[in-house]
Amino acid sequence: MEKVRVGIVGLGRLGKIHAKNLSEAIQGCELVAACSVVPAELTYAVEELGVQETFTDYQKMVESPFIDAVFIVSPSGFHCEQIQVAMAHGKHVFSEKPIGLSIADIQQTVNVIAEHPSQVFMLGFMRRYDESYQYAKKLVEAGELGEITLVRCYGIDPSSGMESFVKFAGASDSGGLFVDMSIHDIDLIRWFTKKEVSKVWAIGKNAAYPELDKVGELETGAAMMQLEDNTMALLVAGRNCQHGYHVETELIGTKGMLRIAAAPEKNLVTVMNQEGVVRPCSQNFPERFREAFINEAREFIQCIQEKRQPEVNAFDGLQSTRIALACKKSCETNQLVDILKD
Ligand SMILES: NC(=O)c1ccc[n+]([C@@H]2O[C@H](COP(=O)([O-])OP(=O)(O)OC[C@H]3O[C@@H](n4cnc5c(N)ncnc54)[C@H](O)[C@@H]3O)[C@@H](O)[C@H]2O)c1
Repeated sequence: MEKVRVGIVGLGRLGKIHAKNLSEAIQGCELVAACSVVPAELTYAVEELGVQETFTDYQKMVESPFIDAVFIVSPSGFHCEQIQVAMAHGKHVFSEKPIGLSIADIQQTVNVIAEHPSQVFMLGFMRRYDESYQYAKKLVEAGELGEITLVRCYGIDPSSGMESFVKFAGASDSGGLFVDMSIHDIDLIRWFTKKEVSKVWAIGKNAAYPELDKVGELETGAAMMQLEDNTMALLVAGRNCQHGYHVETELIGTKGMLRIAAAPEKNLVTVMNQEGVVRPCSQNFPERFREAFINEAREFIQCIQEKRQPEVNAFDGLQSTRIALACKKSCETNQLVDILKD
């Protein structure tokens, strides 16, 4: 089978990871082009990854007849337009989350994607491709927990990444804590329960990092949600985790409960020393979800080769962003938001 020729846009914090995976870890594809507005990133792509063609203009890369698919890892405000342009030029598209920052733009993008059913579209909700989340999903589907009554999620970035985050948030619109960070948890809530969220009440507090105020970002946020059948969800999101990268999910059902990463352990090692009994902690998203990023890219390439669509789609992008934006609105207005009426 011919190799899928991929062009990537964005070679920042996450773009470099995807680019390396596509070049070195995924069979059946070849990273042939890269686009960025930062010259050093293009030099990296050529010298470290052997990319043949580089672009500073995304439109020009997408017009190239030598690429079959694009990987969009640019700042979130570019995703909708870049997805639409790639679709119009006959390319398969992988886009990082969130699919977009406004419902009107996302709806238009969903429509454009729907007009091109033979082109693969996949959204980067990589947690669905993590081994532990997949194991939990199988248990839920097998009915091991009974009916789910509550989902509790923590998604807290390490404070060690604050400087790089403030730079990222200052340079472009991230969408804010709920759209940028909680969107993964919101996707998991929908994925595990197969239900839509109907009402949210969200709150937040900035305490330790005044630099977050300057870029209009929230340090810690929380939301309580009611789903359409009264299933409940609680989420905590943040940028100030002192012990590392804390992503934890709990499902409570009528027959049992499960927790994924109840403590965000790095691996199976326990260190016993003068500090006591120490379980090293997962430090950042590239480390925690290293395999998941590879698995999702592999799935994207296989979907193209097997002419099928992935499980995670544009509608998931629309719904998750709708809920995340409702959290943002609720937090800003200090009011409960009824998503069905909003
Ligand atoms: N799945 C996850 O867990 C996860 C984690 C981190 C980031 N992300 C998402 O990935 C995206 C990128 O995040 P990041 O942290 O890598 O950002 P970043 O700021 O580190 O990198 C952004 C990249 O986009 C490029 N760029 C900016 N404007 C451009 C333009 N007009 N044309 C071409 N390239 C342009 C920059 O040169 C840079 O290479 C965001 O949408 C973010 O939400 C997802």
